[in-house]
Amino acid sequence: MGRLNPTFDDETVVITGATSGIGRETALRFGDAGATVVVGDIEEEPKDADVPTHEAIEDGGGTATFQRTDVTDREQIRDLVGTAREYGGVDVMINNAGLYIGGSVLDLEPEEFDRIHSVNAKGVYFGIQAAAADMIERGEPGAIVNTASISSSHAQFDQVQYDSTKGAVRMITRGSALELAEHGIRVNAVGPGQIATEFIEGWTEEATEAASSGDLIKDVPLGRAGTPEDVAGAYLYLASEEASYVTGELLFVDGGWQVF
Ligand code: NAI
Repeated sequence: MGRLNPTFDDETVVITGATSGIGRETALRFGDAGATVVVGDIEEEPKDADVPTHEAIEDGGGTATFQRTDVTDREQIRDLVGTAREYGGVDVMINNAGLYIGGSVLDLEPEEFDRIHSVNAKGVYFGIQAAAADMIERGEPGAIVNTASISSSHAQFDQVQYDSTKGAVRMITRGSALELAEHGIRVNAVGPGQIATEFIEGWTEEATEAASSGDLIKDVPLGRAGTPEDVAGAYLYLASEEASYVTGELLFVDGGWQVF
Protein backbone atom coordinates (compact mmCIF):
# COMPACT_ATOMS: atom_id res chain seq x y z
CA MET A 1 0.00 0.00 0.00
CA GLY A 2 1.16 3.51 -0.70
CA ARG A 3 2.11 6.01 1.92
CA LEU A 4 0.85 9.58 2.34
CA ASN A 5 3.92 11.77 2.64
CA PRO A 6 3.05 15.38 3.35
CA THR A 7 5.99 17.76 3.50
CA PHE A 8 6.43 20.44 6.12
CA ASP A 9 9.54 22.17 4.78
CA ASP A 10 9.98 25.66 6.26
CA GLU A 11 7.23 24.98 8.80
CA THR A 12 7.51 24.96 12.56
CA VAL A 13 5.68 22.36 14.59
CA VAL A 14 5.26 22.72 18.35
CA ILE A 15 4.37 19.47 20.08
CA THR A 16 3.74 18.83 23.75
CA GLY A 17 4.26 15.50 25.47
CA ALA A 18 6.70 14.47 22.74
CA THR A 19 9.48 12.96 24.85
CA SER A 20 7.91 9.49 24.81
CA GLY A 21 5.22 7.45 23.10
CA ILE A 22 2.79 8.77 20.51
CA GLY A 23 4.10 12.33 20.76
CA ARG A 24 7.68 11.24 20.23
CA GLU A 25 6.86 9.21 17.13
CA THR A 26 4.76 12.08 15.77
CA ALA A 27 7.59 14.55 16.38
CA LEU A 28 10.04 12.25 14.59
CA ARG A 29 7.68 11.98 11.61
CA PHE A 30 7.28 15.78 11.40
CA GLY A 31 11.09 16.05 11.57
CA ASP A 32 11.42 13.56 8.71
CA ALA A 33 8.87 15.58 6.76
CA GLY A 34 11.10 18.64 6.93
CA ALA A 35 9.54 20.57 9.81
CA THR A 36 11.45 22.35 12.54
CA VAL A 37 10.17 20.68 15.69
CA VAL A 38 9.85 22.37 19.08
CA VAL A 39 9.33 19.74 21.77
CA GLY A 40 7.68 20.77 25.05
CA ASP A 41 7.58 18.22 27.87
CA ILE A 42 8.16 18.00 31.61
CA GLU A 43 10.75 15.26 30.93
CA GLU A 44 13.66 15.37 28.51
CA GLU A 45 14.70 11.69 28.80
CA PRO A 46 12.35 9.27 27.05
CA LYS A 47 10.80 6.28 28.88
CA ASP A 48 10.97 4.20 25.72
CA ALA A 49 14.16 5.21 23.90
CA ASP A 50 17.78 6.13 24.58
CA VAL A 51 18.02 9.44 22.78
CA PRO A 52 15.84 12.50 23.51
CA THR A 53 13.41 13.29 20.72
CA HIS A 54 15.02 16.55 19.60
CA GLU A 55 18.44 14.90 19.46
CA ALA A 56 17.05 12.02 17.39
CA ILE A 57 15.59 14.53 14.91
CA GLU A 58 18.88 16.42 14.71
CA ASP A 59 20.84 13.16 14.32
CA GLY A 60 18.65 12.47 11.29
CA GLY A 61 19.61 15.82 9.77
CA GLY A 62 16.57 17.80 10.94
CA THR A 63 16.13 20.83 13.17
CA ALA A 64 14.61 20.49 16.63
CA THR A 65 14.82 21.87 20.12
CA PHE A 66 13.58 20.86 23.55
CA GLN A 67 12.03 23.21 26.07
CA ARG A 68 11.00 21.97 29.49
CA THR A 69 7.31 22.82 29.64
CA ASP A 70 4.50 21.94 32.00
CA VAL A 71 1.28 22.28 30.01
CA THR A 72 -0.69 23.13 33.13
CA ASP A 73 1.10 26.48 33.29
CA ARG A 74 -0.18 28.95 30.70
CA GLU A 75 2.97 31.08 30.82
CA GLN A 76 5.14 28.06 30.06
CA ILE A 77 3.05 27.19 27.00
CA ARG A 78 3.18 30.81 25.84
CA ASP A 79 6.98 30.69 26.22
CA LEU A 80 7.07 27.45 24.22
CA VAL A 81 5.11 29.06 21.40
CA GLY A 82 7.40 32.11 21.78
CA THR A 83 10.40 29.85 21.14
CA ALA A 84 8.79 28.80 17.86
CA ARG A 85 8.99 32.47 16.80
CA GLU A 86 12.77 32.08 16.67
CA TYR A 87 12.12 29.59 13.85
CA GLY A 88 9.53 31.71 12.04
CA GLY A 89 6.51 31.08 14.26
CA VAL A 90 4.21 28.17 15.01
CA ASP A 91 2.52 26.72 11.91
CA VAL A 92 1.30 23.52 13.56
CA MET A 93 0.48 23.02 17.24
CA ILE A 94 0.07 19.47 18.55
CA ASN A 95 -1.42 19.36 22.05
CA ASN A 96 -0.60 15.81 23.06
CA ALA A 97 0.67 15.78 26.67
CA GLY A 98 -1.47 13.59 28.88
CA LEU A 99 -1.49 11.36 31.92
CA TYR A 100 -3.67 8.62 33.33
CA ILE A 101 -5.17 8.25 36.78
CA GLY A 102 -7.61 5.38 37.23
CA GLY A 103 -10.11 4.59 39.94
CA SER A 104 -13.80 4.32 40.73
CA VAL A 105 -16.06 7.35 40.77
CA LEU A 106 -16.71 6.43 44.43
CA ASP A 107 -13.07 6.95 45.35
CA LEU A 108 -12.37 10.12 43.41
CA GLU A 109 -10.10 12.52 45.30
CA PRO A 110 -10.36 16.22 44.48
CA GLU A 111 -6.58 16.56 44.03
CA GLU A 112 -6.54 13.72 41.48
CA PHE A 113 -9.45 15.24 39.60
CA ASP A 114 -7.69 18.62 39.46
CA ARG A 115 -4.36 17.10 38.40
CA ILE A 116 -5.65 15.01 35.52
CA HIS A 117 -7.96 17.73 34.25
CA SER A 118 -5.13 20.28 34.47
CA VAL A 119 -2.88 18.26 32.20
CA ASN A 120 -5.29 16.54 29.82
CA ALA A 121 -7.94 19.23 29.36
CA LYS A 122 -6.62 22.58 30.58
CA GLY A 123 -3.24 21.90 28.96
CA VAL A 124 -4.95 21.44 25.59
CA TYR A 125 -6.99 24.59 26.11
CA PHE A 126 -3.87 26.61 26.94
CA GLY A 127 -2.04 25.17 23.95
CA ILE A 128 -4.83 26.16 21.57
CA GLN A 129 -5.06 29.59 23.13
CA ALA A 130 -1.33 30.31 22.92
CA ALA A 131 -0.89 28.99 19.37
CA ALA A 132 -4.03 30.65 17.99
CA ALA A 133 -3.15 34.04 19.55
CA ASP A 134 0.30 33.83 17.98
CA MET A 135 -1.04 32.79 14.56
CA ILE A 136 -3.61 35.60 14.59
CA GLU A 137 -1.02 38.19 15.65
CA ARG A 138 1.34 37.09 12.86
CA GLY A 139 -1.50 36.83 10.32
CA GLU A 140 -0.35 33.27 9.57
CA PRO A 141 -3.18 30.80 10.19
CA GLY A 142 -2.11 27.23 10.82
CA ALA A 143 -3.39 23.92 12.09
CA ILE A 144 -3.92 22.66 15.62
CA VAL A 145 -4.29 18.96 16.43
CA ASN A 146 -5.16 17.68 19.91
CA THR A 147 -4.87 14.20 21.36
CA ALA A 148 -8.29 12.90 22.33
CA SER A 149 -9.01 9.18 22.82
CA ILE A 150 -11.60 6.46 22.37
CA SER A 151 -12.36 7.63 25.93
CA SER A 152 -13.72 10.86 24.40
CA SER A 153 -16.87 8.96 23.54
CA HIS A 154 -16.80 5.63 25.43
CA ALA A 155 -16.89 5.02 29.18
CA GLN A 156 -14.84 2.17 30.63
CA PHE A 157 -14.74 0.84 34.16
CA ASP A 158 -12.61 2.79 36.67
CA GLN A 159 -11.77 5.45 34.13
CA VAL A 160 -14.26 8.20 34.89
CA GLN A 161 -11.57 10.76 35.67
CA TYR A 162 -9.61 10.04 32.50
CA ASP A 163 -12.70 9.67 30.30
CA SER A 164 -14.04 13.03 31.46
CA THR A 165 -10.80 14.77 30.45
CA LYS A 166 -10.90 13.24 26.98
CA GLY A 167 -14.58 14.09 26.59
CA ALA A 168 -13.53 17.65 27.37
CA VAL A 169 -10.81 17.52 24.70
CA ARG A 170 -13.43 16.57 22.14
CA MET A 171 -15.58 19.61 22.92
CA ILE A 172 -12.60 21.96 23.35
CA THR A 173 -11.62 20.88 19.84
CA ARG A 174 -15.08 21.48 18.38
CA GLY A 175 -15.69 24.79 20.16
CA SER A 176 -12.27 26.13 19.21
CA ALA A 177 -12.70 25.00 15.61
CA LEU A 178 -15.95 26.95 15.45
CA GLU A 179 -14.46 30.15 16.87
CA LEU A 180 -11.14 30.04 15.06
CA ALA A 181 -12.51 29.22 11.60
CA GLU A 182 -12.94 32.90 10.79
CA HIS A 183 -9.18 33.28 11.25
CA GLY A 184 -8.48 30.36 8.92
CA ILE A 185 -7.19 28.22 11.78
CA ARG A 186 -8.25 24.57 11.72
CA VAL A 187 -8.59 22.61 14.96
CA ASN A 188 -8.90 18.82 14.95
CA ALA A 189 -8.15 15.87 17.20
CA VAL A 190 -6.81 12.35 16.92
CA GLY A 191 -8.46 9.66 19.03
CA PRO A 192 -6.05 6.77 19.63
CA GLY A 193 -7.36 3.39 20.75
CA GLN A 194 -5.26 0.85 22.70
CA ILE A 195 -1.76 1.99 21.85
CA ALA A 196 1.31 0.19 23.18
CA THR A 197 3.29 2.90 24.99
CA GLU A 198 4.57 3.34 28.52
CA PHE A 199 1.65 5.70 29.22
CA ILE A 200 1.00 3.67 32.34
CA GLU A 201 3.90 1.57 33.60
CA GLY A 202 3.68 -1.83 31.92
CA TRP A 203 0.95 -0.65 29.52
CA THR A 204 2.98 -1.59 26.44
CA GLU A 205 2.67 -5.27 27.32
CA GLU A 206 -0.77 -5.03 28.90
CA ALA A 207 -2.32 -3.27 25.89
CA THR A 208 -0.67 -5.67 23.49
CA GLU A 209 -1.91 -8.70 25.37
CA ALA A 210 -5.39 -7.38 26.12
CA ALA A 211 -6.09 -6.31 22.54
CA SER A 212 -5.75 -9.82 21.23
CA SER A 213 -7.00 -11.87 24.18
CA GLY A 214 -10.50 -10.53 24.68
CA ASP A 215 -9.56 -8.95 28.01
CA LEU A 216 -10.77 -5.49 27.12
CA ILE A 217 -14.32 -4.28 27.61
CA LYS A 218 -14.61 -5.31 23.95
CA ASP A 219 -12.15 -6.71 21.44
CA VAL A 220 -10.14 -4.71 18.97
CA PRO A 221 -11.51 -5.87 15.59
CA LEU A 222 -8.06 -5.70 13.98
CA GLY A 223 -6.93 -8.07 16.74
CA ARG A 224 -3.93 -6.20 18.03
CA ALA A 225 -2.92 -3.12 19.97
CA GLY A 226 -1.82 -0.11 17.93
CA THR A 227 1.66 1.34 17.91
CA PRO A 228 2.74 4.99 17.92
CA GLU A 229 3.67 4.43 14.24
CA ASP A 230 0.03 3.52 13.53
CA VAL A 231 -1.15 6.80 15.02
CA ALA A 232 1.45 9.40 13.99
CA GLY A 233 0.32 9.66 10.36
CA ALA A 234 -3.11 10.92 11.46
CA TYR A 235 -1.49 13.99 13.04
CA LEU A 236 0.47 14.69 9.86
CA TYR A 237 -2.64 14.32 7.74
CA LEU A 238 -4.76 16.64 9.89
CA ALA A 239 -1.94 19.21 10.04
CA SER A 240 -1.36 19.12 6.28
CA GLU A 241 -2.97 20.85 3.30
CA GLU A 242 -4.59 17.48 2.48
CA ALA A 243 -6.97 18.31 5.34
CA SER A 244 -7.58 21.93 4.29
CA TYR A 245 -11.39 21.48 4.52
CA VAL A 246 -11.38 19.45 7.75
CA THR A 247 -11.98 21.18 11.05
CA GLY A 248 -13.67 20.28 14.35
CA GLU A 249 -13.13 16.61 13.51
CA LEU A 250 -12.03 13.78 15.79
CA LEU A 251 -10.27 11.09 13.79
CA PHE A 252 -10.22 7.77 15.64
CA VAL A 253 -7.23 5.52 15.09
CA ASP A 254 -8.33 2.49 17.06
CA GLY A 255 -8.23 -0.68 14.97
CA GLY A 256 -12.00 -0.55 14.58
CA TRP A 257 -12.77 -0.45 18.32
CA GLN A 258 -15.66 1.98 17.84
CA VAL A 259 -17.44 0.15 15.06
CA PHE A 260 -19.46 -2.17 17.25
P1 NAI B 1 3.39 8.64 27.19
O1 NAI B 1 3.36 8.62 28.68
O2 NAI B 1 4.42 7.83 26.49
O3 NAI B 1 3.49 10.15 26.67
C1 NAI B 1 2.95 11.22 27.40
C2 NAI B 1 3.94 12.36 27.37
O4 NAI B 1 3.37 13.49 28.04
C3 NAI B 1 5.24 12.02 28.13
O5 NAI B 1 6.36 12.37 27.36
C4 NAI B 1 5.13 12.84 29.41
O6 NAI B 1 6.38 13.21 29.95
C5 NAI B 1 4.33 14.04 28.91
N1 NAI B 1 3.66 14.82 29.97
C6 NAI B 1 2.94 14.34 31.01
N2 NAI B 1 2.51 15.36 31.78
C7 NAI B 1 2.95 16.50 31.19
C8 NAI B 1 2.82 17.88 31.50
N3 NAI B 1 2.16 18.30 32.59
N4 NAI B 1 3.38 18.79 30.67
C9 NAI B 1 4.08 18.38 29.57
N5 NAI B 1 4.24 17.10 29.24
C10 NAI B 1 3.68 16.17 30.04
O7 NAI B 1 1.94 8.15 26.73
P2 NAI B 1 1.22 8.12 25.29
O8 NAI B 1 0.47 6.86 25.25
O9 NAI B 1 2.17 8.44 24.22
O10 NAI B 1 0.17 9.31 25.49
C11 NAI B 1 0.16 10.45 24.65
C12 NAI B 1 -1.26 10.97 24.57
O11 NAI B 1 -2.06 9.95 23.96
C13 NAI B 1 -1.90 11.28 25.91
O12 NAI B 1 -2.66 12.47 25.79
C14 NAI B 1 -2.83 10.09 26.14
O13 NAI B 1 -3.93 10.44 26.95
C15 NAI B 1 -3.24 9.79 24.74
N6 NAI B 1 -3.78 8.44 24.53
C16 NAI B 1 -2.99 7.32 24.75
C17 NAI B 1 -3.52 6.06 24.54
C18 NAI B 1 -2.72 4.81 24.74
O14 NAI B 1 -3.33 3.72 24.73
N7 NAI B 1 -1.42 4.87 24.92
C19 NAI B 1 -4.92 5.90 24.11
C20 NAI B 1 -5.63 7.12 23.88
C21 NAI B 1 -5.07 8.34 24.10
